[in-house]
Parts: sequence; structure tokens; C-alpha cells
Amino acid sequence: MSTQTTNPAPSPAPESRPKIKPNPKAPRQPLPLREPEERLRGPAEVALGFTLAQVQVEALRCLQCKNPTCVDACPLHINVKEFIGLMAQGNFAGAFDKISEESPFPGICGRVCQHELYCEHACLLGKKLEPVAIGSLERFAADYHRQTATAPPPHLALNGPRVALVGSGPASLIAAYDLVRHGYRVTIFEALHGLGGVLAYGIPNFRLPRDIIRDEVNRLRSMGVEFRTDFIVGKTTSVEELFAQGFQAIFLGTGAGLPHLMNIPGENLIGVYTANEYLTRLNLMEAFRFPESDTPIRIGKRVVVVGGGNSAMDAARWSRRRGADTTIMFRRGRAELRARLEEIEHAEEEGVHFDFLAAPVRLFGDEKGILREMECIRMQLGEVDETGRPSPVPMPGSEFRMPIDTVVMAIGQSPNPTVQRATPQLITKRGKVVVDAGGQTSMPNVFAGGDVVRGGSTVILAMRDGRAAAAAIHNALQYHAAGAPEPVGAPEPVGAPLAGAQEAVASAAVAGNRIVARRSLTPEIAWLQVEAPEVSRRWKPGQFVIVRPTPASERIPLTIVDGDEKAGTITLVVQALGKTSRTTVRLEAGDRLADLLGPLGEPASIEKVGNVLCLAGGVGVAELLPVARAFRAAGNHVVALCGARSSSLIILDEELRAAADEVQWATDDGTAGLHGTVVDLMRAWRGKDACEIGIAHVIGPIPMMRAAAAVTREWGVHTYASLNPIMVDGTGMCGGCRVTVGGKVRFACVDGPEFDAHQVDFDELTRRTRAYLEEERVAREGHDCAVGLGK
Ligand SMILES: Cc1cc2nc3c(=O)[nH]c(=O)nc-3n(C[C@H](O)[C@H](O)[C@H](O)COP(=O)(O)OP(=O)(O)OC[C@H]3O[C@@H](n4cnc5c(N)ncnc54)[C@H](O)[C@@H]3O)c2cc1C
Ligand code: FES
Repeated sequence: MSTQTTNPAPSPAPESRPKIKPNPKAPRQPLPLREPEERLRGPAEVALGFTLAQVQVEALRCLQCKNPTCVDACPLHINVKEFIGLMAQGNFAGAFDKISEESPFPGICGRVCQHELYCEHACLLGKKLEPVAIGSLERFAADYHRQTATAPPPHLALNGPRVALVGSGPASLIAAYDLVRHGYRVTIFEALHGLGGVLAYGIPNFRLPRDIIRDEVNRLRSMGVEFRTDFIVGKTTSVEELFAQGFQAIFLGTGAGLPHLMNIPGENLIGVYTANEYLTRLNLMEAFRFPESDTPIRIGKRVVVVGGGNSAMDAARWSRRRGADTTIMFRRGRAELRARLEEIEHAEEEGVHFDFLAAPVRLFGDEKGILREMECIRMQLGEVDETGRPSPVPMPGSEFRMPIDTVVMAIGQSPNPTVQRATPQLITKRGKVVVDAGGQTSMPNVFAGGDVVRGGSTVILAMRDGRAAAAAIHNALQYHAAGAPEPVGAPEPVGAPLAGAQEAVASAAVAGNRIVARRSLTPEIAWLQVEAPEVSRRWKPGQFVIVRPTPASERIPLTIVDGDEKAGTITLVVQALGKTSRTTVRLEAGDRLADLLGPLGEPASIEKVGNVLCLAGGVGVAELLPVARAFRAAGNHVVALCGARSSSLIILDEELRAAADEVQWATDDGTAGLHGTVVDLMRAWRGKDACEIGIAHVIGPIPMMRAAAAVTREWGVHTYASLNPIMVDGTGMCGGCRVTVGGKVRFACVDGPEFDAHQVDFDELTRRTRAYLEEERVAREGHDCAVGLGK
């Protein structure tokens, strides 16, 4: 094993190229790797790539078969024989160009594609000896290009119809590559702030460094592909609206981001993560750099990762890098593991333990709701099931317990449901979008591919789907540029205004997120009017946005307090609590939020019931405003009963009086209104005016919501509570926002945030919102010191 770094030399001039004489008997070259002890020190890439000497040996191992089976075996039909032939001649630039005829991502695929299942599996040399290391050669060609290319690919003259690609994972990225090469104008819409889909939020840096993703995505940008991040189709806009805006075809590459849970007792304890949340915090939000980055993660001393796929390996290997004693628990045997062989071997080298034929059945926590112990059961293998693997059968009486601080559930995921929910005419089967061989869905000119069609799959199969869909789109739209689209020199800046229907989309990328007005409601609460044209058009009372004030910040949810479609703005009210909200409160008019995604969540339930009781405490008063207004607009008599600690902390009284028919306040110190809590106020109000109440809506601190809901239960009044759990993505992808309502686990960001208050497990909600109290304190103190507020 070597710790050498890749250092490709320039390709020799054609005249000096040696004649190729294959040398298949040379041993297959091992990929140089970082030593395991060194790997555990951080997120540096494990595989170092071939040295030049190794490339020379490995490329000459290729038999240069007359009828190479590897080309057909590659789902993208990369001309493996020719690119390796060029590498054997030392023409690495030529090899890169040859790969690029079919794939824009040799750096990504050279690192994460399961070559052993495709091209290397078909390699004829492998029948007798070891197959050629095609993946490592592909990676070398890509790295050589990154280190030697002097200019990005030229921007193409794109005059074709507009095509919208939803999601920025490998399926959409390759579809974009193929479509711009035909002259189509392509925009990729991505819900998160980072591009790449699972490549960015799921696969760790130590397997796929972020600069590889960035550079390969930037090549598409240079060619003319447009990107809109913080844009969720089905929420920010709909499929139908995209057509109305002038897109002539739409591709759904929205992936399989909905995480599965085991539905066992204790799954909502602090310390239990889905693999999506765990990996997103570490990869996308860089929690491994906390407190330099703002997003925390809790990784205890003893971690168990449940599952046997790539996500399980990735989560376990991250845990080892955070110093945890880590076990992968899998209900089947080693032969049934689904991860890439290389990842399993690397996990073993890094000290990950494997516990096969076992599964958790129950998790136990302490009085603070923190995970402490796990009960498991042994399995034996039974009949082959629908997955083609022997089914795991529990062995009664084999239960055992183990102490534990962190569990990561890496047991699979289903398609992201946002577009499907918003587009009921799309035919789906168990959440997967149903398509024909070309990716055509049940809607005209709407195509889909990748994990949203397959469920969790692989990068290369997602790319194959994206390619098939691009061909089907080309076939459907029949745009033929006069010749191949010509390069037109320097790339246009992303988001530069374009003519016609695209203008709204493109200009919003330029205009959005600027704070146009700001005022302080209290020293700790700021009112912000923010440019967000699309959100202002579509938001409804009760919905929220996810915001990051700076590129290093956490993603935090903020309720939309108001929206002005004409001005293209929304209003947010922020209370300084943790570091991110403090940073947001300190922003001034003219500043921009780094990210703003929305509108998210389901709107509040507004109906005409006669009398409506609106209850709020603290900053919840701001969040209550649009709901009160909507109830009143629906023809109800709205009574707002609100609480504050003191008269100086009463906010938005005037606005509330304009929104509701009656407003009363209670203050903890008696400096205004009733001396007492919102609950005292409820009882006092009810005492003098026992009218029939149709619905109550409560929003504010959890103890206040719980107490108010207890009173309305007593009164027999149906009550909605707008919940405020910790969120990460806000799109249903991580499961971090899960709450228990009526005994069922729900994701507050997509199923809520409003729920039946009488069914909410407020104790659990309280505990889960305290999961990062200590980390928040550290981050807050660091922030206060940095802005001169420290002691
Ligand atoms: C942890 C992990 C490790 C993996 N490792 C490997 C590996 O080593 N090799 C391999 O071949 N495969 C691996 N896979 C599988 C592989 O990454 C996926 O099969 C592949 O990324 C699927 O690509 P996709 O384009 O279909 O979707 P994704 O990569 O899932 O991308 C979908 C994107 O769409 C966005 N989106 C969703 N809904 C919307 C919406 N409504 N509007 C806008 N955007 C939306 C999402 O935010 C996401 O960014 C791994 C998967 C995981 C989870
Ligand atoms: S699922 Fe991630 S925040 Fe809700």
C-alpha cells in the first residue's frame, strides 16, 4: 500500500508515442490507498489514484479485443477499448475526450461506479486472469484533465426549446449534457443549496471529494446548462407552471430521498438518525467542521449502523472518523451485503465491526430522551424473498441487549414524494413514477428516470435513465439545430436574464433573497421583508421557508408571516436564539440571505366554523398573523389571545388587531394585559364569554402549546398546533423533523407543520428540540465573541 499522490505527467507528443504491445500477464495494479490510521484523521480521499507508472502497466493489460464486450456492458457505452488504447499510448487528453463522448463525469464515475458489475465484469481478460482496472484508468484520465486543462468547455449556441430538469443528481446531469449538445436550452432545478443530488449530500468527501463534483458540474455550466438551487418543484412552482413558463419538456430526476424507518419503539430518541440525516449533516452541511461550520451532529462513543448498502458503509466510515467504536448490524449475511466491494473492504480496514444476522427490535433512552441501550434479535436465513436474497427469519429467544449512544438507520429509501403529491395525474406505483422504456410518464412531455423510478439504485443506472430520457425528449421535440450547436466563446453568467418566458425564472436567480426592509420589533426580534418573487406568488398561511443567512450557516425554518406578490417579497420575523438566528437578526436592509427555499409544508387548515380562537406566545404572535387573517377572511369571528414575558416584548399588536376581531394580551410580569400566562388568559376570557368555539389554532413555545391544548381538550374544541422541530432540508429527505402524532411518526416539514394538537406527543417534541443544546451553546458563544458580545 502506498501513500503516493497522483501526479500525472503530460502526454508525450504523438510522434514519440510507443507502439502498443499488450502485456496482459502483468499483474492488475492495486489502487494506492491512504493508510487506515491516516484516513481516520479526517475527510481526505482514501483512494489516491494510479501513478503514471501504474497506468502504463494497467493500460497495456487491455487485450484491445476485436469485439470488446466491455463497451456494451457499460450502461453508457463508453468506448473502453479506445480510451484505454489512447492511455496506453500516453495520450491521456485523448482518452478523456473519448470518455467525454459518452460521459461528462469520468471523475465521479471513476470513483463511485460499480465497475465490477459492468465493464470489468465483462472484460475478457477477467475470464482467465484479473480484469483490467477500467474504473481506476477512467479516474486517472479525469484527474489528468482536471490538472492540465487550461480552459472550460466552450459555451454552446443554444437556440432549441427549453427543457426543465428537476433534481440535480446524476440522472438529470447527464440528461442536461445530452440535451445541450443537441442545442436545447436546459435549466436544472434543485431543492437543496448544493448540486449533485446524492453525490453531494450522501456520498462522503473521503470517497468523492467535493471539488470533483464541483468541477464536473461546472463543465456543464460552461456549456450553457443553467442551474437554479433552492427551488423545489411541486412547491416553489408546479409542473404545469413550468410548461406555462415556456418549458416544452420536463424530466423528473428527483431521486429516492424519503428515508425508511424500522417502526420499532424508541426510534425517535435523541441519537437515532436516518442515514440521510446523518450523511447530510456531515457531507452537505459539513458538521465534521463544527463549530467552524454551524451544523452540529451527535456522534457518541458507540455507534451501530443498521443496514448493508452503500449508505451503511458511508455512515459507519464517518463514525470511525469521529472516533466512535462502530458496528454495522445487518440482518442477513456478508454475502448479501449490497454495498460496493471496495467500500466493505475499506470499512473493515478502518476498524468497522460487522454483526451479521442480527437486527434491533427496541431502543431504550434515559429520562432526557437520549438513546442509551438497544435490544436486538438474532436471525437465520430462510427462503429466498422478492429481492432474490435469502430472507432473514428472527430466532425467538435470541434477544440480547447492548449499550449504545448512536444508531443510524440505513435501511433504504423511497422516491421523494413532493412532485408526485403536487401532480396527482402522474401515475405512480408504491411511490415510484411509472415510465416506459424511454422514461415517458403518464403526462405528455413529462419524463422521469433514476431513483425516482427505480427506488434506491446506482449512479450509473440513473445516468443510463437520464440518457434514455434525453433521447426520448429529443425525439418528442424534434429540434434539429443547423449542424451541431456551435461554441460561442465565453460562458454567460448563470442567471443572466434571458428573453421571453424564461425571464421570470432566470431573473429571480439574480434578484432573490435581498432584504429590502428591516425593523427591530424587540432587541432580539427582527422583522425582515425579503425579495422572494416565486415564494410570494405561491405561499399560503401556515407555510414556511428554509433559510441560511450565510453559506456557512445551518438551514433553519422560518414561518412566512406575510407576502406581497406585486412587490415580489415575503415577510419573516426572526428571534435571536442560536447562532444562525442571531446572524439573521443582525442582517441589514440591502444584505442578502445566502439561501431561501419555499414555500414549504402544508398550509394551515382554514375553514368557516364561526368562532376561531387564535393562541400564541412570544415570536409565535408573528407566525399567528397570517393564520388569523385567513380565518377572518373565511368569514370567522377571530379572537386572538397572546402572551409575552413583559409589555416591552409585545410584538405586532397593531397588525394583530387589524387581523383579528378581538385581541387580548397576558404578560408574565403583569406590565400589560392580564398578569399571567396565555392559559390564564384563556380561562379568564372563557369565563366571561362562553361562546361556541369552532376551532383553535396554537403556535409558540412548546410548553405554552401543550398547556393551551390541554385546556382546549377540556373544552372539547378541535385544536391545531403549528410545530417547530429541528429541521435540516425541509423537503422530507432527512427525517430529522419527525414528530409523533396520534402514535404515528410524521415528518413535520412535509406532513405538517400543523397537526392535531390533542394528538401531539409534546414530551417527545420537547426532548427532540433539545438535542443540540450543548452544541448550540458552544456555537452561540463563539458567535457572540466574534461580534464583540462575549464576556
Ligand atoms: C449514501 C449513499 C451512497 C451511495 N453510494 C453509491 C455508490 O458508491 N455508487 C453508486 O453507483 N451509487 C451509490 N448510491 C446510489 C446513487 O447515489 C443513486 O442511485 C443516484 O444518485 C440516483 O441519482 P438520481 O439522479 O436519480 O437522484 P439523486 O442523486 O437522488 O438526486 C435527486 C435530487 O433531486 C432533488 N429533488 C428532489 N425533489 C425535488 C423537487 N421536487 N424539486 C427540485 N429538486 C428535487 C434532491 O434534492 C436531489 O438533490 C449511493 C446512495 C446513497 C444514499
Ligand atoms: S425531513 Fe428533513 S427536515 Fe423534514
